[in-house]
Amino acid sequence: MNSAAGKAIRPSITMNNSVPTRSLQDDKIYVAGHRGLVGSALVRRLEAGGCTNITTRTHAELDLMDQASVRNFFAEERPDAVFLAAAKVGGIHANNIYPAEFVHDNLSIQTHVIHEAWRAGVKRLLFLGSSCIYPRDCPQPMREDTLLTGPLESTNRPYALAKIAGIEMCWSYNRQYGTRFLSVMPTNLYGPGDNFDLQNAHVLPALMRKMHEAKVSGADTVTVWGSGKPYREFLHNDDMADACVYLASAPDAVYSGLISEELCPLINIGWGKDITIADLAALIREVVGFEGELQYDASKPDGAPRKLLDTSRLTALGWQPAITLRQGLEQTYQWFLKHQDAIRG
Ligand SMILES: NC(=O)c1ccc[n+]([C@@H]2O[C@H](COP(=O)([O-])OP(=O)(O)OC[C@H]3O[C@@H](n4cnc5c(N)ncnc54)[C@H](OP(=O)(O)O)[C@@H]3O)[C@@H](O)[C@H]2O)c1
Repeated sequence: MNSAAGKAIRPSITMNNSVPTRSLQDDKIYVAGHRGLVGSALVRRLEAGGCTNITTRTHAELDLMDQASVRNFFAEERPDAVFLAAAKVGGIHANNIYPAEFVHDNLSIQTHVIHEAWRAGVKRLLFLGSSCIYPRDCPQPMREDTLLTGPLESTNRPYALAKIAGIEMCWSYNRQYGTRFLSVMPTNLYGPGDNFDLQNAHVLPALMRKMHEAKVSGADTVTVWGSGKPYREFLHNDDMADACVYLASAPDAVYSGLISEELCPLINIGWGKDITIADLAALIREVVGFEGELQYDASKPDGAPRKLLDTSRLTALGWQPAITLRQGLEQTYQWFLKHQDAIRG
């Protein structure tokens, strides 16, 4: 993973906020999953903001599914702030093939980290969930208070239920132990460092890779899974990291409002607008320079017709995303071209 990748787009050291912030610069910060799509962007953002005391461990150095190791790590390191971006993550195919791992690994990682963060006296923790926690047919855009109001989309139910358990854990520890743990629910993310493995990737990097390979091989067509009609929302990982740092730096009075006892400590992070998969595919086609045709394989599942997060809770705090989809796609494609040999998958 190239950690310099996202700097061109959002190099800002000051936050794009209108409220005074609590500085993270004096904190010891643990970023769990720092080599992943979100974790790598978080480290870039924290470093750009002047944070120098950042602790990380690779999966090989610290398996977060091993409770004893996680306990020792927290006892030794005693971080002030934690960003929990380590998880078992994947697209629809991976979720279908490995449902046991999606529920087991995620429950295990988050249980250990949240519990040991409490034991070690961590001041603030951000737990990363996903928009799939919301009911499949909930009203759009999806508001935080629609959690647990209806059945989940079946294809990623094990993953979603693990994430819901993590949210409940943050809330329960806040209520019982007075911790200040917050769950953030991102929309679909993309950017430098994404997973381009065609079997396991999310739709955006999978389409980018397919079109790139078709361009190189001179193929006439690329097949897009599904009808192309569903609407999806996409956010660049540097915007995501910026929002996370913004929230973790919020002044106590603001942060307390997000984690009050009565209100589930949950906040959506998204771009605020969605596009159809067909429009996304057309945009990627332009960015990649693939001149062939796009065909749609309607025998493949579409998933939910629309998935857009209601981000009014976040934007009311003064945060806005900055990276347009075209800018982000262009930058991600440049990153892909540079790292083709080393990319995941
Ligand atoms: N990508 C998205 O579109 C998206 C959307 C919504 C929410 N999210 C959430 O954002 C968070 C981060 O996602 P991401 O896309 O950044 O995932 P990612 O790129 O797959 O990164 C996940 C990271 O977690 C690490 N990890 C996994 N299992 C581990 C274990 N047992 N012990 C230690 N480290 C482990 C991985 O290390 P290895 O690679 O070495 O295993 C990797 O660095 C997740 O909670 C995810 O649910 C992501």
